[in-house]
Amino acid sequence: MISITCLALLYLSLANIAYTAEGRMQIFASPGDNVTMPCQLKPSSSFSFNGNRIKWTKIEGDDDIDILLSMGSHNIKYGKYENRAHLKNIHENDATLVIYNVDLDDFGIYKCEIINGMDDLIVELELRMIGVVFPYSPRLGRYNLNFHDAEAACSEQEAVVASFEQLYQAWKGGLDWCNAGWLSDGTVQYPITKPREPCGGSNTQAGLRNYGRRDKSNSRFDVFCFTAGLNGNITFVNEKLTLPEAEQACQNEGAVLAKVGQMFAAWKLKGYDRCDAGWLADGSVRYPISKPRMKCSLTESAVRFVGFPEKKHKLYGAYCYKA
Ligand SMILES: *[C@@H]1O[C@H](CO)[C@@H](O)[C@H](O)[C@H]1NC(C)=O
Ligand SMILES: *[C@@H]1O[C@H](CO)[C@@H](O)[C@H](O)[C@H]1NC(C)=O
Repeated sequence: MISITCLALLYLSLANIAYTAEGRMQIFASPGDNVTMPCQLKPSSSFSFNGNRIKWTKIEGDDDIDILLSMGSHNIKYGKYENRAHLKNIHENDATLVIYNVDLDDFGIYKCEIINGMDDLIVELELRMIGVVFPYSPRLGRYNLNFHDAEAACSEQEAVVASFEQLYQAWKGGLDWCNAGWLSDGTVQYPITKPREPCGGSNTQAGLRNYGRRDKSNSRFDVFCFTAGLNGNITFVNEKLTLPEAEQACQNEGAVLAKVGQMFAAWKLKGYDRCDAGWLADGSVRYPISKPRMKCSLTESAVRFVGFPEKKHKLYGAYCYKA
């Protein structure tokens, strides 16, 4: 008999775990983290004298990629997991897996199987990247990106085109944006938390507004980008500078102008807060506010967008990034 269970209670104390509506465990991590993926039979389960057969796989499309197979004292690890995965073996019926130093390829859905003869178990869990979704439009202005431009625009900002799921999570976290943007599945959508007239109507429900799948070459919109944790550090040069002077000021500190994705990551994931407008690498001027206050984005925590000023305006500081 196979029972599909999620052993939630033991792990509720860990802050980086959530559950989907279907009850699938989600573990949130950043690239470089060591990740523990819990999987064990109920404490009351029968004890197998031959040891349990444990199998971990990663589900990718129609393929299952083998990670680890364990039978009694035999352990086989596969491919890139050979030196990076191990079983915790907390007790006889534990199949908890640790993966060290996760990279971008490791994010996705995992399957744990414990074959015991009596109380078999199959659990799926999802390893999700901690990150932040942000809307992006270039200097050219609103609705100028076809899908391929959108991919390039996110990439230039140290990000990728966000998935539907990532935008949905961002909307649940309060993201409200009234311009439609590309998502990685080729659809065009925008998140509304405060329904109003110009954004689909004031009598409508909050949610993701969906324009559906659009022609990737001929349709032009903004884009929603997703960026993961920040490895480096952002600093501010507090002078009145032109854009070329700002680039130079960062170079003088052994740094470069920060990309938009790096600014969003610092704001969202590290609470970066600075009420000074500064140049970023794409020629935009922005500032990060995580503690809203008088004259500094009073009503909401946000990365404020000043615009794409003339590059020769000697008006703004510089946000520099050092890895
Ligand atoms: C991951 O584990 C290894 C080995 O125990 C340790 O050296 C490393 O610092 C850990 N990394 C993180 C991010 O905790
Ligand atoms: C950068 O590092 C300094 C000093 O280590 C720290 O005070 C600051 O908060 C960091 N900035 C960001 C954006 O993480």
